[in-house]
Amino acid sequence: MIALLMQVSNFLSILLSFRIGCDASVLLDDTANFTGEKTAGANSNSLRGFNVIDTIKTQLERMCPGVVSCSDILSAVTRDSVVALGGPSWKVVFGRRDSTTASLSAANSNIPSPASSLGALISSFSSKGFTANEMVALSGAHTIGQAKCSVFRNRLYNENNINSSFATSLRAKCPSNGGNNNLSPLDASPTSFDNRYFNDLISQRGLLHSDQELFNGGSTNAQVRIYASNQATFSRDFANAMVKMGNLSPLTGSNGQVRTNCRRTN
Ligand code: HEM
Ligand SMILES: *[C@@H]1O[C@H](CO)[C@@H](O)[C@H](O)[C@H]1NC(C)=O
Ligand SMILES: *[C@@H]1O[C@H](CO)[C@@H](O)[C@H](O)[C@H]1NC(C)=O
Repeated sequence: MIALLMQVSNFLSILLSFRIGCDASVLLDDTANFTGEKTAGANSNSLRGFNVIDTIKTQLERMCPGVVSCSDILSAVTRDSVVALGGPSWKVVFGRRDSTTASLSAANSNIPSPASSLGALISSFSSKGFTANEMVALSGAHTIGQAKCSVFRNRLYNENNINSSFATSLRAKCPSNGGNNNLSPLDASPTSFDNRYFNDLISQRGLLHSDQELFNGGSTNAQVRIYASNQATFSRDFANAMVKMGNLSPLTGSNGQVRTNCRRTN
């Protein structure tokens, strides 16, 4: 159960918001005449758990056809995944509708790269209305889950701001050639929603380049220290920022639709 929820929580990231909005466009499969977002650089081979969403949707359609959108399922599952792993809860406002379109190019350009600098992260989140502190809080989602070798290899072999014993143990699992899909945890307690991630950053044990950027002598160092020493503050700020993320340009009223099958438009 937890493993499934964790997989689904990947949706958090990358998707919920950095796209056009929270409209479940990411769930659409490619077809002969439609290119969705599943093959976007940041999503391909990363997104897991689509089958969990399908199972939930099938059960809902059986009980109450045409009422609960795929976007609302994602919003609830994201919140419940965080709670199941020990994190805070927040109120999910329902009534989002699903997109009838998806944009591969928007997914590619809106999702920040793990190679991003601090400045690029701040401006990417700022373009969606988030402050730098909210960006730091949301990045704390990396307290759960894993990443593929291919997205952090460069950090192991070419960066200096990495804890040497940490780098040594990761190099064994992520060689300079091959093993692209080998997974490593994003923090030292990847099945607990806690503030370990921030303590790891202070020990130069951030897995992604973008993670360590939050604690590399720049303007967000102080916020990382606050969250590292105060889990309750992190939990509160994370929950507030997730509510804000869930409300990013939702489709409501007669816009969009309630998909019957999350993988395709009606
Ligand atoms: C700050 C900019 C961010 C960047 C550059 C980033 C990048 C990434 C990358 C590269 C991965 C690994 C994907 C893989 O290898 O399969 C990942 C995983 C993950 N991200 Fe982010 N992310 C960011 C922000 C966020 C936010 C805001 C959230 C949620 C609020 C989030 C939640 C997650 C989760 C839960 C995972 C683990 C997924 C799993 O284990 O399946 N990330 N992120
Ligand atoms: C796309 O192709 C499917 C068959 O694969 C067809 O049913 C559908 O009408 C097509 N949609 C558009 C917009 O052309
Ligand atoms: C490297 O990690 C260890 C174990 O967490 C820690 O004690 C040490 O302070 C870290 N080194 C640096 C330079 O942060």
